[in-house]
Amino acid sequence: MNRASEQENVNPLREGLSTRAVPQPCSVVIFGATGDLAHRKLIPALYNLAADGELPPAVTVIGFARREKSDDEFRREMEEATRKFSRQPVRDEIWKTFGQSIFYHQSDFGDESGYKSLAAKLDKIDQERGTRGNRLFYFAVAPDQFEPILKHLKGAGLNEAREGSWARVIVEKPFGTDLASARELNRVVHTSFAEEQTYRIDHFLGKETAQNILVLRFANAIFEPLWNTRYIDHVQITAAETLGVEGRAGYYEGAGALRDMVQNHLLQLLCLIAMEAPTDLGADNIRDEKVKVVGSLRRFAPNEVANSVVRGQYAEGAINGKPVPAYRTEKNVNPNSMTDTFVALRLNIDNWRWWDVPIYMRVGKRLPKSGTEISVHFKKAPLVLFNKQSTEENVLVIRIQPDEGISLRMQAKMPGTSFRIEPVKMDFHYGTSFGKASPEAYERLLLDAMSGDATLFARRDEVEQAWTFIDVIENAWAAKKDAPELFFYPAGSWGPEEADNLLARDGRAWRRL
Ligand code: BG6
Repeated sequence: MNRASEQENVNPLREGLSTRAVPQPCSVVIFGATGDLAHRKLIPALYNLAADGELPPAVTVIGFARREKSDDEFRREMEEATRKFSRQPVRDEIWKTFGQSIFYHQSDFGDESGYKSLAAKLDKIDQERGTRGNRLFYFAVAPDQFEPILKHLKGAGLNEAREGSWARVIVEKPFGTDLASARELNRVVHTSFAEEQTYRIDHFLGKETAQNILVLRFANAIFEPLWNTRYIDHVQITAAETLGVEGRAGYYEGAGALRDMVQNHLLQLLCLIAMEAPTDLGADNIRDEKVKVVGSLRRFAPNEVANSVVRGQYAEGAINGKPVPAYRTEKNVNPNSMTDTFVALRLNIDNWRWWDVPIYMRVGKRLPKSGTEISVHFKKAPLVLFNKQSTEENVLVIRIQPDEGISLRMQAKMPGTSFRIEPVKMDFHYGTSFGKASPEAYERLLLDAMSGDATLFARRDEVEQAWTFIDVIENAWAAKKDAPELFFYPAGSWGPEEADNLLARDGRAWRRL
């Protein structure tokens, strides 16, 4: 579909969304439909969109998977999953209609005939349900399944949009395990789908508060003049989880926290914090600015990695007073595993705006609290007044989750006859300010893909640039196989003390969540 016809789909009556194309009727084919992602996230997200009246009624979901199952069995399973994982309670009357828009297609991913019959099914659905030949293929499968699926989609002519309709593919992470594999994956994807058809999902970008970073920075005039090396001392980004590996050892053992969270989610958040203002909100203009940030990240020399990156793994401990096992004793984890479940990094962006402003990131599993936040620490006011009392710096905290919101720490005079200065907080909470629940990240992202808006999806060059940064660290770790630097931390603590030392060396400390 060309830009002009997408413009025609803009519905000016949709509150606050005048620049957004309206999602179009389409078939959503989910590969790996019997898996965890479809159960926990995708179908509940589609249901919630339907319940909120956001989903065009013709949208039809086709679960593509290997197991034998009837449409009715699949619908029942999806209903059960949605009742369990949906953000809002399932309303019977909505499910009744929504459930009828779900179908099941049984096939092996490598079986050519399964795709021929899928093509026929999709044509029939177009006629009966008005999906207009639009197809959204969702790859909720491990990357080693991509190649056969792509090959056969192409073989069945499903990768190409017909006149007046579109075909798009959403690819789930992990998008490669290093630069070489990401490039190879991109090559494989592009044998069937062009970059404009490819939507690489990073669900952090779909989080309301991540999107709000652009609004905070560029719709308010007061922050941007201060948003640079003259006024900012440093930035911290923390993504903490109380959860452990949760039965995902098969994937996690080969990934670790650096690949699982930093390469994608945390670097994406950093891009939003650090990018220049785009010329407009077009997908490519925003992504052009983001890719410049990743490109400007100072690459470590191999011998600098140990100084700037701390790798940790949880040992046994307790979360909320309950004992939990060490990572190495979790199911399917190698008892000598060197996988990182925690990483802390000190990095720099080598550009004019961020010169000499350290960025500290930490991410970990089995930490005492779950929460993701970004804090921007401003330089301290000069100490000349107020009897040279040492004051704390102003900190702008963006809470990505939970309790989404923004707070600003300032100094205030304590009431009383003396001049005592204490920090106070100005706090904005999404929940109470808007009185409206935020959609789940997957809801927003699915809708955007149906509307042809790729702004919140990672572009090929972003992903590849991110890997060039990560590869240096992974390679340095791998090269030190015999004397690896892996620090253990008790589950339920804030990671190894080396992570605190990383900041202490610079005279700073992690913000308490
Ligand atoms: C996923 C990672 O991408 O993000 C998981 O693979 C992690 O390991 C999850 O738990 C965190 O996402 P959220 O939205 O729960 O913060």
